[in-house]
Amino acid sequence: MKKTDSLDRLISTVKKTENIPTLSKVLAKISEEIEKDNFSIKNIGILMSHDISLSARILKIVNSPFYGFPQRIYSINHAIVLLGANVLKSIIISTSVFTVMKKTMAGLSEHSLFCAFTSKHIAEKMNNDIKKSKGETKFNDGRERQPAIDPDNMFSLGLLHDIGKIIIATTFKDDFKKILEIAQKEEKPLDEVERGILNISHGQLGYMLIKEWNLPPAIYLPIKYHHNVNLADNFKTETAILNIADFLTRAIGIGFSGTTYLERINTDAINILGINIDFIKSVIEEIYSYKDELSIFD
Ligand SMILES: [Fe+2]
Ligand SMILES: [Fe+2]
Repeated sequence: MKKTDSLDRLISTVKKTENIPTLSKVLAKISEEIEKDNFSIKNIGILMSHDISLSARILKIVNSPFYGFPQRIYSINHAIVLLGANVLKSIIISTSVFTVMKKTMAGLSEHSLFCAFTSKHIAEKMNNDIKKSKGETKFNDGRERQPAIDPDNMFSLGLLHDIGKIIIATTFKDDFKKILEIAQKEEKPLDEVERGILNISHGQLGYMLIKEWNLPPAIYLPIKYHHNVNLADNFKTETAILNIADFLTRAIGIGFSGTTYLERINTDAINILGINIDFIKSVIEEIYSYKDELSIFD
């Protein structure tokens, strides 16, 4: 694939490829049911009973220390209620995608999962700050506070944010090798090198794929702009959290996302969130323990 190829041609090549993770029939049906306004937990439970390994995984995840529910959850219907439809859908998609991720790019699933933990953590920490502020819209030093955002949505974003890399790695194998080499050698961000060679970045490709899977704009838009926070018109806060969580995951060195080169922290994202360096420092201390939870999808 050359840079001169039109975007349309590139997209149709991606769509024709057989390597792209697709949802199995059961997963697609569950996904379809979750999309309905009046979806039924009973129906989802019945559909999930057709896939025993998926049900077992969901129960393992919901019972992991990360979710920390006080009692053990034995029933899949109970798990669905506790996790909520959107988290359930992201987990279902991630479990299928993680298998492809592990085969295609070593370290990407750990990178994605740790980024998911960190994204959720930052959202919860910001929401706690809002609660403590008792309605104050500004910090003491005059910075604006951001409105509360959904930590579970942030978890899904972290899980799926780099899914576009799987498309590049499977559809444009030779180009992908070249991209990784250049990014490492010339110390450039991966998405910049991708655009130079393919004319499209993993953020844009991930956006296309996730739209195809019928996930909501709160998922596909932040993924599209996670390396270009300033271009996001909607879900700016989510996009900025994802950017910082991705950066911290790479800075700490969990998993592998394609290059060991680390650019400077994105000050636009910091400004959008209205956070400061002390906030970032305490996040780094708090997220270390998530290292022990990286096996919840295994
Ligand atoms: Fe990325
Ligand atoms: Fe990433």
